[in-house]
Amino acid sequence: MSFDRIAPHYRWIERILAGRSLHRCRTALLDGIATPRHALLPGEGHGRFLVEFLARHPATRVTVVEASAGMISEARSEVARRDLRLDGVEFIHHDALAWEPPARTFDLIAANFFFDCFPPTELAALIERLAAASTPAAQWLVADFREPAPGPAGWRARSILWLLYRFFRRTTHLSAARLTPPDRFIESHGFALTKRRTSDWGLFQSDLWTRTTEAANLTP
Ligand SMILES: C[S@@+](CC[C@H](N)C(=O)[O-])C[C@H]1O[C@@H](n2cnc3c(N)ncnc32)[C@H](O)[C@@H]1O
Repeated sequence: MSFDRIAPHYRWIERILAGRSLHRCRTALLDGIATPRHALLPGEGHGRFLVEFLARHPATRVTVVEASAGMISEARSEVARRDLRLDGVEFIHHDALAWEPPARTFDLIAANFFFDCFPPTELAALIERLAAASTPAAQWLVADFREPAPGPAGWRARSILWLLYRFFRRTTHLSAARLTPPDRFIESHGFALTKRRTSDWGLFQSDLWTRTTEAANLTP
């Protein structure tokens, strides 16, 4: 799997296919979070969330773990284009599934259109790893696709997702063939859904998850 081939084109592809909807989904709950000390952005890609985040929280340390060198280069350019500072940002070019993060370090994890890249077993392992890297009272922002209940919105969403997975499997060799909702994996690590916003006929979902201290104490 590699997003390198499509990295230089990702921004305009997104603009043509989704207009501003995807970006609204990424940033829908960003203004509602407490200022974090150290944020982890796994699979951040072309950096569109990163620049919004840095503009609001310039003093927060940020770690990006991203498997595509091309995407990291796009994200760096995006930060420069917006005239923001990169001093507090560390880019780690690594597969997040194999990366060994420091324990209990990040008080914010923001995963945007990232969990949709993984089949269930990989997603469970990834979320376990991220949960162990989160502080006891961490917040998680998760923006992604969803499948609405059956009916016209559900058929629409399933058709769009079918096309997207075909496209990404062909261009990036993505291992996932369909969407796996991450909710049960996130909940199993003591997080509770605090806010959820859906948009675009239920195709997009922006979530804020928070962990209670008691639940975090149970996590090894
Ligand atoms: C669908 S794109 C989403 C990019 C961006 N977060 C957004 O909001 O559009 C998925 C991103 O996750 C990265 N990615 C996929 N699998 C990964 C992995 N195992 N480890 C780290 N990054 C990964 C890809 O390189 C790509 O940049």
